[in-house]
Amino acid sequence: MPDLRHGCRPQSGSEDTRRSDALVLFGAMGDLAHKKVFPALYHMVQRGHLDVPVIGVAKAGRTDEHLKERARDSVRQQGGNIDADALTKLLSLLHYVGGDYQQPVTFDRLKKALGAACCPTHYLAIPPDLFMSVVESLTHSDCLKGARVIVEKPFGHDLASAQQLNAALHAVLPESRIFRIDHYLGKEAVLNVLFFRFANSFLEPIWNRNYVESVQITMAEKFGIEGRGKFYDDTGAIRDVVENHMLQVVAFLAMEAPTGLHCNSIRDEQVKVFRTIQPLDPKHLVRGQFKGYKNEKGVAPNSQVETFAAVRLEIQSWRWSGVPFLIRAGKCLPVTATEVLVKLRRPPLDALAGSTSNYFRFRLGPGDVSISLGAQIKHPGEELVSMLAKLTAVEQQCADEVDAYERLLGDAMHGDAMLFVREDAVEAAWAIVEPILGSSGPLYSYEAGSWGPHQADRLVADLGGWHSPE
Ligand code: BG6
Repeated sequence: MPDLRHGCRPQSGSEDTRRSDALVLFGAMGDLAHKKVFPALYHMVQRGHLDVPVIGVAKAGRTDEHLKERARDSVRQQGGNIDADALTKLLSLLHYVGGDYQQPVTFDRLKKALGAACCPTHYLAIPPDLFMSVVESLTHSDCLKGARVIVEKPFGHDLASAQQLNAALHAVLPESRIFRIDHYLGKEAVLNVLFFRFANSFLEPIWNRNYVESVQITMAEKFGIEGRGKFYDDTGAIRDVVENHMLQVVAFLAMEAPTGLHCNSIRDEQVKVFRTIQPLDPKHLVRGQFKGYKNEKGVAPNSQVETFAAVRLEIQSWRWSGVPFLIRAGKCLPVTATEVLVKLRRPPLDALAGSTSNYFRFRLGPGDVSISLGAQIKHPGEELVSMLAKLTAVEQQCADEVDAYERLLGDAMHGDAMLFVREDAVEAAWAIVEPILGSSGPLYSYEAGSWGPHQADRLVADLGGWHSPE
């Protein structure tokens, strides 16, 4: 079986083929590193995919030992049995460089720590307002030579700042060495949407406006902002997850078949979808804020930032014109689950069809991956009535699931950009949400543990309401 990725690794002979010989993690003591990056590095070591120095950059005043303790704690918090050899190996790869990101001396220290490394990957797991100055300092300290840069999301704050950031990066690096990360693109379940659609022939005839009535994506999180008040209050739900994770899911659901196994075949189709989505009309947006949000540390007492957003959009393409796509994402909702429901049009005979339409349901996480089809069959017994049966195409809880960060960090260190967001795509995505950024329109408060403000129901009033994940 060909691996989609084989065609995507850069061709030999170019300097882009070199495997990175060091990983520099900016924000090494931060929340993202603790939650996602160290566990990913640990699994990479375990699989034999990481054996180069990992330099953790963070505030001054710490030591190698602090960094190692942080990594150890992060791996322990993942639970399960710990592979002591892998953990020891990971710790042996870690080195700490401390200092202020605004001070050139920090980058001189980094340069020294990089030693003979000639193809490092710099991963900017830091607040977005620091991206530009860190990239400038990397250039001035000569740390960018031969390097790749992974930039965390949100990439910019709006379209203009994303364009500025792209221009600043392109002034010092070619696009092939810039990796804009959106971890949803590395998720097993999200990639499964692509495979389910394009590795089968039965879906294609019905995957269009003739058969699909509506598409709903719900990203529900039971938890709140978990101590990320400052970041979240500068960001809000639209910038945090709608502009990126949710639109990437839309792109996988709606794109045309990629034309070949090369890096840009998927990315070309992604951007085409984004360009056929009209900038969102504030009339088709409902924003909410959970009660108690303003008391969170780091949040402004009069904050107008949304912790819930629901939008209705349309893709103006031959395939999708007239089919509503709905996105609903929020914190402090009743469950943590991301789910897609693709509802098919009802068949013509009410007497046979029953009350529920056929649907495809994609469970994108957390944990389990499942794809199921809701179909009508005859209810067993004397009566001639139908009932809903669920046919499950995939249902797995993969113990060995390559975590999204592990997959993406490995790809970036190989120079493989297939699952990263290209310059044109990130700008096209910002253009979609541009009209609904900021405190446009009302902000409704909702109880923690509810499904958000009831005003969001109006977006789906003609579609039978929201589908809540099981
Ligand atoms: C991050 C957001 O990008 O994605 C978080 O900043 C959100 O607010 C997280 O909780 C969700 O990721 P996942 O993989 O847990 O669905």
